[in-house]
Amino acid sequence: MTSDPIMFDGLGFFLYRSTACDGLNVGDLEDILKAARQRNDAAGLTGCLHHEDGLFFQWLEGPQYQLQHVIQSILRDTRHRDISVLGEGSLAQRRFQDWRMRFSDREHGSLMDWFASSSASTVDPSDYAGGVVAFLQSVAV
Ligand SMILES: Cc1cc2nc3c(=O)[nH]c(=O)nc-3n(C[C@H](O)[C@H](O)[C@H](O)COP(=O)(O)O)c2cc1C
Repeated sequence: MTSDPIMFDGLGFFLYRSTACDGLNVGDLEDILKAARQRNDAAGLTGCLHHEDGLFFQWLEGPQYQLQHVIQSILRDTRHRDISVLGEGSLAQRRFQDWRMRFSDREHGSLMDWFASSSASTVDPSDYAGGVVAFLQSVAV
């Protein structure tokens, strides 16, 4: 993962963790995904969203201008809180190019279990963001 200063051309990425609002249900999640996929499609953005134990982990990538615009919408969305940015910057190549927004939850894979497993042994323990990305890329949906 590169973390150059953000330039407003080329591809960029944004990785964060947030807490889903209390009472967020399956219907709310479907609404989020439907709107996200429509907008990402129009903006040329791709990525993935993982939901586990009331937490969201999202990787979003695409043209910097459009990316920054959608990030602002995500940051002000009241359906989640305690947003912690794990990484952002420029990107040479997309990681989720076939996905307008792939979705996964515990049924597909568990980040907590993955960190505890041998798959994580190649990840630097101090590189939490790198571990999250490696996990997201390992999930089979
Ligand atoms: C966890 C989460 C992930 C989201 N991901 C995306 C996304 O990938 N793309 C997107 O356009 N909107 C996404 N949204 C929805 C936006 O936050 C926002 O509701 C939507 O883009 C409408 O934007 P507006 O506030 O400018 O009307 C997400 C919302 C949440 C809570």
